[in-house]
Amino acid sequence: MNKKLFPAIAFGLLGALLAVGAVSACSSSAAEAPDKSRYDVQVEELLAKMTLDEKIGQLNQLTGVGCAPDRLEEIRNGAVGSILNEIDPDTVNALQREAVENSRLGIPLIIARDVIHGFKTIFPIPLGQAATWNPAIVEEGARIAADEASSVGVRWTFSPMVDVSRDARWGRIAESFGEDPHLASVLGVAMVKGYQGEDLAKPNTMAACVKHFVGYGASEAGKDYNTTWIPEPHLRDVYLPPFKACADAGAATFMCSFNDINGMPTNADRHLLRDILRDEWGWDGLMCSDWSSIQQMIPQGYSPDLKHAAEAAANAGVDMDMQGFAYIAHLKELVQEGKVSEKTIDGLVRNVLRTKFRLGLFDNPYVDIPTSRRFFAPASLEAARKAAEESAVLLKNANSILPLRDNLKIAVTGPLMDAKHDQNGTWVFDLEKDSTVTVLEAMREMYGPDRIIAAPGLSFSREKNPAAVAAAVAKARQADVILFVCGEEAVLSGEAHCRTDLTLPGGQKDMLRQLRATGKPVVSVVMTGRPMEINDIVENSDAILYVFHPGTMGGPAIANLISGKVNPSGHLPVCLPRASAQQPLYYSHKNTGRPAEGITYIDDIPLEAGQTSTGCTSFYLDAGDGALYPFGFGLSYTDFSYGPVVLSADRMGADGTLTASCEIENTGKLKGATVAQLYVRDLVGTLCRPVKELKGFEKITLEPGEKRTVTFTLRASDLAYHLADNTLAVEPGDFRLWIAPDSASGDPKEFAVD
Ligand code: BGC
Repeated sequence: MNKKLFPAIAFGLLGALLAVGAVSACSSSAAEAPDKSRYDVQVEELLAKMTLDEKIGQLNQLTGVGCAPDRLEEIRNGAVGSILNEIDPDTVNALQREAVENSRLGIPLIIARDVIHGFKTIFPIPLGQAATWNPAIVEEGARIAADEASSVGVRWTFSPMVDVSRDARWGRIAESFGEDPHLASVLGVAMVKGYQGEDLAKPNTMAACVKHFVGYGASEAGKDYNTTWIPEPHLRDVYLPPFKACADAGAATFMCSFNDINGMPTNADRHLLRDILRDEWGWDGLMCSDWSSIQQMIPQGYSPDLKHAAEAAANAGVDMDMQGFAYIAHLKELVQEGKVSEKTIDGLVRNVLRTKFRLGLFDNPYVDIPTSRRFFAPASLEAARKAAEESAVLLKNANSILPLRDNLKIAVTGPLMDAKHDQNGTWVFDLEKDSTVTVLEAMREMYGPDRIIAAPGLSFSREKNPAAVAAAVAKARQADVILFVCGEEAVLSGEAHCRTDLTLPGGQKDMLRQLRATGKPVVSVVMTGRPMEINDIVENSDAILYVFHPGTMGGPAIANLISGKVNPSGHLPVCLPRASAQQPLYYSHKNTGRPAEGITYIDDIPLEAGQTSTGCTSFYLDAGDGALYPFGFGLSYTDFSYGPVVLSADRMGADGTLTASCEIENTGKLKGATVAQLYVRDLVGTLCRPVKELKGFEKITLEPGEKRTVTFTLRASDLAYHLADNTLAVEPGDFRLWIAPDSASGDPKEFAVD
């Protein structure tokens, strides 16, 4: 291979996005980036009138305490720019009135809230939404969330989280779009568009907050808030692309992450926050800290005190201090001492004011009380059900046991069968749990109460209660088939909820073994917030539906899938491991010099076997290699055949394109959907390249017997990656390309870049 790099395919600004976002046949078109100059005049006029105290006040975000007199006074004095966690529209209006009518300059507040996968109508957790591989569903969910939350005055949500997440121990994987930068980019953009709409100034929108900038998903050992070690080219290839895609789509705000990268807390990282985000990308939105993350640079070992933390964050470019009290306490003094310039403060304030103008808050600060509290519209519930249906991944269906015929007696059992709270997953601060329809309720509705035997057994996922299990198993014996709804409670994933054992908690494994021993067919629904180790479930179930916490309408969605009213179409946005200790596990790994070959398992090793007798390749003696179910995997009640890949050319120049097509046929008897996935491998690079990278995908629905050709256009620039000096380049050489229904199948086609 000619090692010479393509001369300054100096993609710079554009290139980082091209590297991830260009190919998807179904990527949603990016929302129009806000007109950068539109509010400059108003911002400058206002800024010119502000005292230093008022400027610093705009940078201060506090959590809600209602209309407490002290709070009203702070607002009146211009000492608060934003309030999070107020969700009562009358309170919001009262606070806003104080800001708009009683403070000197009348600058409105932005009211913020973590609306992560729905406000009242809860959609599947983001990891489940990623399993739909359907940006339209993600966008619609965000639009509904914005409509509901803005109806009480929340105009800023701390979502989407686009942290590429490759470690299932990390509880926050639940909030992510999974392990792949391309999938996270496409879905992150869809969510931004859904929240912000065509015009952010409309009162039924919310400003998106793309978080956590950046690298948080790499938290060492899958432990929350932990350090990360990420060389910059890797940061640019894997962790930054979804942020870049969202910035280009007009995301109004970003949030700094809690982690340090290579020892530097992101809240103090000028290179990230200024050189890359502002100068390279040209983004002019609002960067907020995470909850108290400026203050947390003290325990992190970076700042000796709060004053230093405030100085570091302001100079690095964190515009707003979330509940950290660092800016309000120290910025004035820091300006007086010359450690932070007033010019720097003005820059931070401009970003805050610009965001308020973009949101239309100066024209329209108040909630319209008569139309407030717009929750649970029938169309929203339908959309939530459809999202839950498309998020479920069928992993196994021995003897086509699913869909279940309607003349069977079905025992519904397991700790998540009737879990109004837990079925909604993490980050549902505003949940009204009685609105949740559970699996048990929906199965009764679907099959008729006489056909359903409710056999509760364990009442929550961690419970170990042999007597309750025995009672449930006895009841299940009376049925023709058992539906075991197992998994993890909501509280076992999400922020600060990490696990090292990724198997079913509590007495569930034992319960499943006993259910299996009844001799009845077992269908397991695994409801969870992360990729779990499911060997026991595979062994003891005829069929498995893997459902990330599915939200309000999870029950009807699952009943529709179990009964065959709807055909499963979800695909995994993460690998499911063979063993918990395989983490981090992801399909897009490097090959190593000794890829797995001739795997020897621990029980097959003879006594006193020689050191090298088990082979010297890259695998685990007790888990082999690779995923149990790979990224991208998902079955259907019908079958699809993928024809050979046809390329328009087998070579292209550095600025060239080629198309890759594949005819897909529904060879089964039911209508169904598959996700055609385009993967590429760069065989030799100046830096070692991953074994596969997702470059595009398209979800298509086919009638029985129907064939359709899916075509992806691949640009050479889509093959670019970052070299050790952080330049983005396409290297000439040989490549492989697949179009397949998952990351582990399909026959490669070769092509070259000249
Ligand atoms: C989380 C953020 C969240 C913020 C505000 C933090 O602890 O890391 O994701 O948006 O709290 O609630």
